[in-house]
Amino acid sequence: MTPLEQAAQAALHAPSVFNTQPWRWLIDGDTMELQADESRRLEATDRDGRLLTLSLGAALHHALTALAAAGWSYSVTRLPSPGVVARIELGAPTSPAALDLAAAIPVRRTDRRAFGTRAVTDAELTKLRRLVEQNGAYLHVVPADKIPALAISAELAGAALSDDRDYRAELREWTHRPEGSGDGVPVDTAVEPGLRRVPVRDFAPDDTPGLAIGTAHDQGAAYVILFGRGDSELDLLRGGEALSALLLAATADGLATAPLSDAVEVEWPRVLVRGLIAGLGEPFVVVRLGYADATTPLPPRPRRTDAIAAR
Ligand SMILES: Cc1cc2nc3c(=O)[nH]c(=O)nc-3n(C[C@H](O)[C@H](O)[C@H](O)COP(=O)(O)O)c2cc1C
Repeated sequence: MTPLEQAAQAALHAPSVFNTQPWRWLIDGDTMELQADESRRLEATDRDGRLLTLSLGAALHHALTALAAAGWSYSVTRLPSPGVVARIELGAPTSPAALDLAAAIPVRRTDRRAFGTRAVTDAELTKLRRLVEQNGAYLHVVPADKIPALAISAELAGAALSDDRDYRAELREWTHRPEGSGDGVPVDTAVEPGLRRVPVRDFAPDDTPGLAIGTAHDQGAAYVILFGRGDSELDLLRGGEALSALLLAATADGLATAPLSDAVEVEWPRVLVRGLIAGLGEPFVVVRLGYADATTPLPPRPRRTDAIAAR
């Protein structure tokens, strides 16, 4: 496999909203393009494509991390031309970097179960905040006394979404994918409903979810808001790259992670989340970080195998 093929393969592990994997990688010699697969945009949940662009940014960061760890330099142009999200040009061999992040790529998972009592340290959160800033976005750690406000935002969003017929249909579509599609959120990776510090999206409203919530209650969890100065396509792409950096670094440090985007999908809760970052920018996604309480491994989640092509 060439270095660019290896990087594209690594990027297939990236997180994406509803596991839509809305990407296409096109390899042409020493150049690789990342394109959006617009047919995978969530029409009801993600009308303006923000979550799609965040997901593309996460895939881009995965690919660049894999190249750095394999000891390749590269140059990257973001949004070089209409229809192209990023163009990566392979450079010369160099010393390997980001090895810890690259090692986390195949093991990182979204864990929807409640996390345990062990608290995420301030030092860890400071490290993650710096990393997010290095990757072109910002991180706000929600202070303990504001977590109830975040919970209200998520609760309001969850209620508004479950009243929305189009959303319900879209959720059903992406949790009941045809055999072999390699995408979507299988019901066995959804968690049973229960009292949470901050409610999580219900991926199995009409089914029996595969994961028990566990005996813990997210006591030690940290809730962080990833945000940008604005919400241009470039801001969102950088936001997705920063999200990937955050999730991989947290995984490398032994933390469990779970993005939560429902609170920013609905207008009024989104205003409330913007208030939590003191109006400093545009909230992209909330992430719950903590130490897993459950010891059982998570069931596998599907991945597409048809997203890489050679020109
Ligand atoms: C932009 C974005 C938003 C997401 N929002 C949520 C969410 O609201 N709730 C959730 O449980 N997972 C959320 N996820 C996680 C995806 O569902 C997850 O990445 C996907 O199902 C693949 O599973 P994996 O992360 O274990 O590889 C989000 C991921 C991204 C990139």
